Amino acid sequence: MSRLLEGTVAVVTGTSSGIGRAIALTYAQEGARVALADVTTEPLEGGEPTLDLILEAGGDAFFEKVDVGQWDQVDRLIGATVKRYGRLDVMINNAAISSGTGLLDTTDAQWQEVMRVNLTGMFYGCKRAVQQMTGQEPRDEVRGRIINLGSQQGIVTCPGETPYGVSKAGAIYITRQIACDYAKDLIVCNSISPGKIQTGRPGVGQDPALVENARRRTPWPRLGRPQDIANAAVFLGSNRATYITGANLVVDGGWLAR
Ligand SMILES: NC(=O)c1ccc[n+]([C@@H]2O[C@H](COP(=O)([O-])OP(=O)(O)OC[C@H]3O[C@@H](n4cnc5c(N)ncnc54)[C@H](O)[C@@H]3O)[C@@H](O)[C@H]2O)c1
Repeated sequence: MSRLLEGTVAVVTGTSSGIGRAIALTYAQEGARVALADVTTEPLEGGEPTLDLILEAGGDAFFEKVDVGQWDQVDRLIGATVKRYGRLDVMINNAAISSGTGLLDTTDAQWQEVMRVNLTGMFYGCKRAVQQMTGQEPRDEVRGRIINLGSQQGIVTCPGETPYGVSKAGAIYITRQIACDYAKDLIVCNSISPGKIQTGRPGVGQDPALVENARRRTPWPRLGRPQDIANAAVFLGSNRATYITGANLVVDGGWLAR
């Protein structure tokens, strides 16, 4: 069977754990060459580092230690990817943190750090990717694709996650803006907004009462898995999704439909 991303060059941020790890592994399985970026190589949920798993399976990938909130590090990541693989087909801005705080208990330092990683990091990833993509030849009608991780919490509220929700609303907005501004340059830009996905991410997401509430609130009879989001990212990163741009693909087991 042919692989959906054969020969595609992808950069994924936040690849050591959770959703980013599943995206990187699935991209490699589908034939992509993958640049992995994270502040650590240790998976929050345990297990072998993502790079080792890809290489052991015969895939092509490399790891760069990158803090997405630092322009020079994002710049180095894209530069290293293009030097190694010749171009950048898909940029996936996945790395994010949460503070687990509402308005009144959010300190200035917490607000600044969530915005630095989630929003400024996405701005840097998008900007550096567009710089690269606008200068390369189209493949299957497209110069490059960007996929930003939003959240259902960028659309509806979640108690005790004010800075995170604001940053995720921003992720959905910047996606639309880039899709419109760079469609003429043949750049496709979409976001994926997961519902409750079970990962090792610390914070309110691990609270048993909130997990049980999410399970009851979700029409589909299980919570989400990182693989559910990776499957959506494969579709949006492939040539099956060329006329889809500026979209926010909600992957939430029906939560928002309720
Ligand atoms: N898990 C969910 O239920 C859920 C729901 C909606 C949206 N999301 C979004 O999906 C994405 C992944 O979430 P997850 O649950 O897999 O998170 P996670 O915490 O399991 O993994 C995040 C990864 O990002 C890395 N990271 C953190 N700060 C970084 C930085 N400054 N630079 C580079 N890497 C950094 C971490 O080391 C980690 O490997 C995030 O954008 C998140 O907002 C998750």
